[in-house]
Amino acid sequence: MDIEQLKQQVAALGPWFYPFSLADGVVTPSKVPPQVQGIFDTRLQMLQHAVNTHFGPRLAHIRALDVGCHEGFYSLALRRMGIPDVLGLDYRDDNLRRARFVTQALGISGLRFLQADAEELNPASLGEFPLVVCYGLLYHLENPMRVLRRLYALTGELLVLETQVVDEVDGVTEWGSLEWTRPFHGILAVIDESGEYREGNQETGSTPVVTCPSPRALRAMLQAAGFRDIAVQPPPPDAYEQLARGKRVVVTARK
Ligand SMILES: C[S@@+](CC[C@H](N)C(=O)[O-])C[C@H]1O[C@@H](n2cnc3c(N)ncnc32)[C@H](O)[C@@H]1O
Repeated sequence: MDIEQLKQQVAALGPWFYPFSLADGVVTPSKVPPQVQGIFDTRLQMLQHAVNTHFGPRLAHIRALDVGCHEGFYSLALRRMGIPDVLGLDYRDDNLRRARFVTQALGISGLRFLQADAEELNPASLGEFPLVVCYGLLYHLENPMRVLRRLYALTGELLVLETQVVDEVDGVTEWGSLEWTRPFHGILAVIDESGEYREGNQETGSTPVVTCPSPRALRAMLQAAGFRDIAVQPPPPDAYEQLARGKRVVVTARK
């Protein structure tokens, strides 16, 4: 494909979410506002740090799964880090079409994509992956606990998960009578994404109503799914503002 054909295909496949550099002067035009695009690099740095810290040179011998991979930005990054076999999974065929195009345009092998709904996935059909990445998906889910259980089944060693979090709420609630009470472990906020969903937004979940956890709820749910050594990763210097303020977190968890 020559440069003109490449440009035509890029235009035909848009709108794009990520700025992929495909060839000299050909970058996919991201629809994300410039002041927000710093989020891509901060999350990438945090992913690379977590993955390198855990696997080191073993990276060359593992396979990885990227759940909610969108156009494959982080799947591609994992492949470029030297992981020989990376599978990206997403609910939306449109996103995967762009992911496959990027892979082909860059001549990358060892990077595959699969359409599937993480809420309905049968983990046994895919087997275990030493590394599972789940970025930007949890707060687009109607049933986060159901998906975390599936991620646990899919994870061989390490899960790296990134999510927005809502402000913490601690408390105690009645549980059957005035005298009987239970503490609760954070909250899941119910978010109405039906507007974006109806408009065909490519980043929302597979349902119009979704939930977003508080930090304690996230930890409690990861633990309930079976994960251990759950650690919130420190953001790098000059991190994108949401990660710097702890309103989005990158968490590592081991099987
Ligand atoms: C906000 S984007 C995040 C993309 C990417 N992981 C990142 O962090 O930049 C959410 C992605 O998850 C996908 N998605 C939403 N609900 C899903 C589900 N139930 N199963 C699989 N993918 C889903 C969307 O199609 C979209 O590509």
